[in-house]
Amino acid sequence: MTSETEVMVKATYISPDGTSTEIDVPLGTTLMQAATANCIEGIIGDCGGNVSCATCHVLVSSEFVDRLPPMSDAENQMLDYTVAPRQPNSRLSCQVLVTEELDGIVVEIADPQT
Ligand code: FES
Repeated sequence: MTSETEVMVKATYISPDGTSTEIDVPLGTTLMQAATANCIEGIIGDCGGNVSCATCHVLVSSEFVDRLPPMSDAENQMLDYTVAPRQPNSRLSCQVLVTEELDGIVVEIADPQT
């Protein structure tokens, strides 16, 4: 539930057609959860964040790549099974927990996801 004291950061999702959507994301939410809660098309999140579907693949803008939480082995392995080819800045958005450091993050939604 959202409260007035909840700390939010801005996150922008760029769709394959170039549409850019900025949303407020509560701290402690993943980029996948925020996208699905805001009906951002292209982030599917079939497995609910269990690192087993790779349908939440995003490409993170270069200035934020180094600020991301480290990648787990499970995420690293699953990124080898994305439908859109893996890139050096690929992440599974269900594994990116939003922190204040990520305020203003921009991610491109990988296409296709399935
Ligand atoms: S939601 Fe399934 S791997 Fe991210």
